[in-house]
Amino acid sequence: MDWNALIRPELDGMKPYAPGLRASEVRERTGRDDVSKLSSNEYPLGPVPMALEAMAAVLPHLNRYPDGSATALRARIAGHWGVDERFLTVTNGSNELLRLIAQAVLRPGDEVVYAWPSFVVYPLVTRMFGATAVPVPLTSDARHDLPAMVAACNERTRLLFLCNPNNPTGTIFSRTEWDALLAAVPPNVLIVLDEAYFEFVDDPEYPDGLTYFDGVRPLVVARTFSKIYSLAGVRVGYGFLPPALLAAVDAIREPFNVNTVAQIGACYSLDDQPEIASRKHVNREQKTYLYSCFDRLGVAYVPSHTNFIWIQTKKPVEVFEELLREGVIARSFGDTPALRLGVGTETDTKRTVEAFEKIVGRLGSL
Ligand SMILES: Cc1ncc(COP(=O)(O)O)c(C=O)c1O
Repeated sequence: MDWNALIRPELDGMKPYAPGLRASEVRERTGRDDVSKLSSNEYPLGPVPMALEAMAAVLPHLNRYPDGSATALRARIAGHWGVDERFLTVTNGSNELLRLIAQAVLRPGDEVVYAWPSFVVYPLVTRMFGATAVPVPLTSDARHDLPAMVAACNERTRLLFLCNPNNPTGTIFSRTEWDALLAAVPPNVLIVLDEAYFEFVDDPEYPDGLTYFDGVRPLVVARTFSKIYSLAGVRVGYGFLPPALLAAVDAIREPFNVNTVAQIGACYSLDDQPEIASRKHVNREQKTYLYSCFDRLGVAYVPSHTNFIWIQTKKPVEVFEELLREGVIARSFGDTPALRLGVGTETDTKRTVEAFEKIVGRLGSL
């Protein structure tokens, strides 16, 4: 077999998505038991108690396939946001939704505009379906440069990915900036607004994508249960899509793409809004305390609207390795002069601050 002839040339040299280090890998590597995994923007606590109980109760019934239309969960999500469920699809994490949209719309020669650095899945799905990536650098304060992104759109642009708040920088664009983009973006462009960290944001200037979704405008709003809802391990995300696109995505998704445990867990998670509000509050408290310690230690960072912080350092490789040595797993971005660090529990925060105190002592200015 000529494997090169067999496999689509666009996939040549593509590497699998590289996740952050797992705690068990770091335990093995460093010999330490006390490890803070702050590399994947997960919530540091498990699923809410009601969801845990409901997921455990369904385990004896896993001989059956899931509900392939996720009927109860779709009704529950639609009710929660007050948007008609005929616009809603649920997916195996919002990653799956991003890929399905790309698969449904991209042809070789199409262009896809996204900010950079931003979520690594945008370039992946662009390339996977033979389209051309058009990354637009963030502004000097690590925010989406929406006017430059509009300027990068042309008649070949099929998709515009917007990540608000942005992963990995934790920054947002404002309602005013978003309104200006909507007014200027060419009509051939489908906007995919990825709001994976929506629930963490407090800023009154933050535009809620769903208030702009009308099922007619070429806009998709994607959200997930992987972050504040602590369900990353069962994989469940969702999106609101205009009906023609929704029909295409539903036609190409796997049958039973969202497993039974995930469907049940997500339904019950939505029921515990007091707990979700408290998680948001705890995240904000830990983040504020981390900022005060970083200020004291001279560690540069970008203020974040999420559960992670973009730390700016001229020594990203050394700081990453030193953090590991101290039991803190951050996310490295190669030689980009920054690291992404998740906000965890009080214990994680304490470990992180102690780690930085030692590292600043060892390396001098970061
Ligand atoms: C911006 C953004 N979008 C989407 C995802 C995918 O999340 P999931 O597939 O777990 O829903 C992530 C995960 O880290 C993310 O950061």
